Amino acid sequence: MRDALLDWYARERRDLPWRRTSDPYAILVSEVMLQQTQVARVVPRFEAWLARWPDADALAAAPRADVVAGWVGLGYNTRAVRLREACRAVARDGWPRTAAGLRALPGIGPYTAAAVASFAFGEQVAAVDTNVRRVAGRLGRGTPEALLPAGRAHDWNQAMMELGATVCGARAARCGQCPVAAWCASRGRVVVPERAAPGTRERFEDSTRWVRGRIVAALAAGDGLPGGITDERLEPALAGLVRDGLVVLGTDGPRLA
Ligand code: ADE
Repeated sequence: MRDALLDWYARERRDLPWRRTSDPYAILVSEVMLQQTQVARVVPRFEAWLARWPDADALAAAPRADVVAGWVGLGYNTRAVRLREACRAVARDGWPRTAAGLRALPGIGPYTAAAVASFAFGEQVAAVDTNVRRVAGRLGRGTPEALLPAGRAHDWNQAMMELGATVCGARAARCGQCPVAAWCASRGRVVVPERAAPGTRERFEDSTRWVRGRIVAALAAGDGLPGGITDERLEPALAGLVRDGLVVLGTDGPRLA
């Protein structure tokens, strides 16, 4: 089963820019971006980010407001702030080379720490996000940690993610295309969760997170607060951004902190 998955990955893997590097900074940037944004949208943003801030020292030295502005469109602006803080710690103390050490950096959780440790430093740890957990759960052959083949953490972690992204999806298990279907406890009988009925799911445009994104984008562009949003929606979102330290209320209006 392990060989079948690793062989499939070697054959079918998508050529993604963060798979061509073992630079921990580039890998960290990619993983933080990929936490909330689709691969196709991350690729150009990742390349632009690295062109502008090529290493941890560069990001650590960048003004915080520039980093937040550079993140516009990638969601959850606080991730940009934490990424910069992590790079400030790295600029000061160097890179921790283990998942345990990486977890001590600001804003780096167990998944991201394990991804960077295995992809950049070759540590033999499983990187387990929701997709990997789903794939391992369907396989029914033990925990993601127990599945890890000795000495192959780098390719194995990438392969599990690739399988979850392209074959064993949350909403469609394409068992006919799966390289490990022969070993899978759920083959052909995965029940995917039903989509929420139209109209019952909150639209992103109705969420506070959307308003926050609009505010940060408008301030980054030097436009002041965005138009076309009621004060009832604008005020709590702005208060949240101030509370999170992303925006300050200056005498001539709000600006990125
Ligand atoms: N999603 C999270 N990490 C990824 C990676 N390294 N490659 C592709 N998709 C991912």
